[in-house]
Amino acid sequence: MSESVTVVDHPLVQHKLTLMREKATSTAVFRQLLHEITQLLAYEITREMPMTTKAIETPLERMDAPTLAGKKLALVSILRAGNGMLDGVLELIPLARVGFIGLYRDEATLKPVQYYFKVPEALDDRLVIVVDPMLATGNSSAAAVDLLKKAGADNIRFLCLLAAPEGIKRMQEAHPDVPIFTAAIDRGLNEKGYIMPGLGDAGDRMFGTK
Ligand code: URA
Repeated sequence: MSESVTVVDHPLVQHKLTLMREKATSTAVFRQLLHEITQLLAYEITREMPMTTKAIETPLERMDAPTLAGKKLALVSILRAGNGMLDGVLELIPLARVGFIGLYRDEATLKPVQYYFKVPEALDDRLVIVVDPMLATGNSSAAAVDLLKKAGADNIRFLCLLAAPEGIKRMQEAHPDVPIFTAAIDRGLNEKGYIMPGLGDAGDRMFGTK
């Protein structure tokens, strides 16, 4: 797998992911686990954020202490399942701006069609983190990144919980400049486009719908 895919194989991430995969896990617990895993994944995806120093005074002396360089950040959720990952990142980076992209699949062409697009201004000046728990076919993810690039974004990272090899391939072909961060890469897609062994429909599991 290319260097642009990072699998966050931390024991806590893997343990929580196993709990999420189990079909007996309740909606409330599933949501809480997604929140917690997202924070651990966010820790990795922000690892290379630019740093600077500032002069501060400890109770003992002055020092030049490390601090974030203040590069602006935008979080973009692909509706609806991406919303389950927003709060986890926002708790760590409360100043991030938030955008939403809604896409549905046209049953005739099987292509993603945009029904909602609202993103922060000055995207060209921001690190943009796109969140969507399931990178399955990669069609909606690639389309979302297309839209963000058209809106000016040029520094984009993609954060998901589970990825299928098909989705990774699609993203790498369409957007080789977009690094992908995930908790696991599963076997592949079934005939209905579900990730196998996966965890089912992430949106249904987090919102209690069928
Ligand atoms: N979306 C989901 O929620 N689950 C899958 O397995 C694939 C796409």
